[in-house]
Amino acid sequence: MTDAITVRAAAKVNLHLGVGAPREDGFHPLDTAYQAIGIYDDLVVRTADTWHVGVQPADHVAADALPVLGDNIVDRAARALADFHGVPLRGDVRIAKDIPVAGGMAGGSADAAAALVALDRLWGVDTADEDLLRIAAALGSDVPFALVGGSAHGTGRGEHVHRAVDTGSWWWVVVPSRTGLSTPEVYRHFDALFPDAPAVPPPADVVLAALATGDPHELAAALHNDLQIAAVDLRPELGTLVERGESAGALRGLLSGSGPTVVFLADSADAARAVAGALGEAHDVVLVATGAVAGAHVVRHL
Ligand code: C5P
Repeated sequence: MTDAITVRAAAKVNLHLGVGAPREDGFHPLDTAYQAIGIYDDLVVRTADTWHVGVQPADHVAADALPVLGDNIVDRAARALADFHGVPLRGDVRIAKDIPVAGGMAGGSADAAAALVALDRLWGVDTADEDLLRIAAALGSDVPFALVGGSAHGTGRGEHVHRAVDTGSWWWVVVPSRTGLSTPEVYRHFDALFPDAPAVPPPADVVLAALATGDPHELAAALHNDLQIAAVDLRPELGTLVERGESAGALRGLLSGSGPTVVFLADSADAARAVAGALGEAHDVVLVATGAVAGAHVVRHL
C-alpha cells in the first residue's frame, strides 16, 4: 500500500477558442485547440483516516483568490471518484499552487485532474481511462484536457478531447493579473456583445494545421480567441498589455481562455526571455514556460 503520492498537473492555454451561441443548458459550444504549458500545480496525497485539503500558494498566486476550502473542485473530484467506486472519502491533500487562480489557465481543472490521478493510486481503485475521463467531464469542461495534456482539439463544451499533431517546441511568456476574472462573467459579456453568435463555433483547423508544421510564425499568425474582445472590453488594460508584449518582440499576444492571463508566443528561448525582461519592468509577475507538456502524471511515490 502506497502512503504518499505526488501528481503534477499543468496549466493550459487555448491556441484557438471558437465560441458559439449558448446551448439550452447554458454552456457555450466550443471548438478549441488546447496546449498544456510548463506552469504546474503539484498535489501530494497521503493516506489518512479523514479527508483534508490544504493549499500552499506560490508568491505570485493571490491567496485571497483561492476557492473556498471544503467545497472546491478537488473535494468534488474526490467525492465523485469515491462514489464511483463505493469507497470512503479519505486522504490528506496538499496543493502546491503555481498556476494563477481565476486566470483562464484552468488551474482548478488541473487540481481536479491531479486529484483523480493521485487518489486513484492512493485508494488502489484502478479506474479505467474512459471512466476517469467521464468523471472528469462532469467536474468541469477543461478537466478531461488536464488529464490528457499535450496539444489537443476540444469540442462540445470543451470536454471532448482528441490529441493533436504537434511537431513544435513552443516558448511562451505568461503575464497573470493580480485580480482574477470570473469565467461566467466573461461568457455573459460575450453573449451581450455578440447576440448573433453562430450555433456552430468557428473551427480550430488553421491552428491545428499550424501546430503540425512546428513553425512559431505559422502558429502566431493563427492564434485566435473569441473571448478576447469581451475580456478586453471588461479590462481595457489587457489590450494595452497585448500591444506592449508584441512591441517588445513577441510574435503574438493572446488572452488565455477567459483571461485575465495574457500569453505571448516567442520564436525562441532567447526571445521569450527578452520579452519577459521587457514586460517585467511594468508587471510584478512574468513567467516563461514551454509547451506542450504532459497531462496530470505521477512524479513521486514515497
Ligand atoms: O465547465 P466549467 O465548470 O469550467 O465552466 C464554468 C463556467 O464557464 C460555466 O458555468 C459557464 O458559465 C461557463 N462556460 C460556458 N461554456 C463552456 C464552458 C464554460 O458558458 N463551454
